[in-house]
Amino acid sequence: MRNSLLATGINGLVGSKFKNDFSDSYQFDSLDISDPQNRVDITDINQVMAAFEASKARYVLHLAAYTDVTGAWNQRGDKNGLAYKVNVTGTQNIVSACREHNVHLIHISTAYVFDGTKETLYTENDTVHPIEWYGETKALAEEVVTNSAIDWTILRIDQPFRSDSFPRQDIAHRIISGLETATLYPQFTNHFFGPTFIDDFAKVIDWVIRTKTTGLFNASSGEKWSDFAFAQAVAKQIGSTTSIKPGNLDEYLKTLDRPYQKNTAMDTSKLQSKLDFSLRDIASALSEVTSN
Ligand SMILES: NC(=O)c1ccc[n+]([C@@H]2O[C@H](COP(=O)([O-])OP(=O)(O)OC[C@H]3O[C@@H](n4cnc5c(N)ncnc54)[C@H](OP(=O)(O)O)[C@@H]3O)[C@@H](O)[C@H]2O)c1
Repeated sequence: MRNSLLATGINGLVGSKFKNDFSDSYQFDSLDISDPQNRVDITDINQVMAAFEASKARYVLHLAAYTDVTGAWNQRGDKNGLAYKVNVTGTQNIVSACREHNVHLIHISTAYVFDGTKETLYTENDTVHPIEWYGETKALAEEVVTNSAIDWTILRIDQPFRSDSFPRQDIAHRIISGLETATLYPQFTNHFFGPTFIDDFAKVIDWVIRTKTTGLFNASSGEKWSDFAFAQAVAKQIGSTTSIKPGNLDEYLKTLDRPYQKNTAMDTSKLQSKLDFSLRDIASALSEVTSN
């Protein structure tokens, strides 16, 4: 029998993969702003409460977010802007509904809560210090969750990519397209991140529910890649011979008016010491990526 699972953002880049891979395990009670029959906007507390009221689920997977980092930067400081309303007010509403209905919250967060100045991997003990508005709203959302009295799990990810393609392209598929059309921008040799393989991350979400795990976890791959090395690995995987130009983040930043984290790679040993399965390394994950 499938368990009911409340979910926000389940049709996005990350959520739709989880929904696809775990449709045999869960019956999704979705809070979906694009559903013409039952539109639920998480910034509206009454709509959120009604959706929780109608569900028997004991868990909510909260993925919905305003994820356009540049769009968020253009709204910086604006608490009436969509980025703040979706990421902070939306999360406050989900937390209130969890409290009212005794539901465990699985909140998806980001490495952009960090400032990106650390050279080594960020751990769960590092202080959050966002440097742009998207990261700030996501850090405030984390605060709302951690200050609440509900059961919660926070999973932080970074630059997620999946094996199959999705209309909103992930980092691996953007590189594939760029290589195939010879339009790939120079790839920074001095910008670092911790790619997250969504196929495995979907299993992490299921593991949280199966094991009732609570707490804060970095849930990317635990690896640190430069943009240039990652693009080269993608090119190798698809057998592309298109040359990849090295880029310099410091030069690029001179042309940009918004701050940019130089390193968002995270240490995942806390998570990996508890999981009952292994996360694939990024080289193996890339071998599963298809271009269509
Ligand atoms: N993608 C990344 O690079 C990345 C990196 C780190 C962390 N994350 C985090 O991972 C989570 C999932 O990201 P994603 O990339 O899958 O996001 P996404 O593809 O942009 O999807 C976001 C989802 O949120 C929904 N949504 C937006 N506003 C809403 C509202 N007011 N009410 C209800 N639903 C609303 C959207 O619905 P519609 O599609 O119907 O508009 C969409 O399904 C987010 O919490 C994000 O912060 C993402």
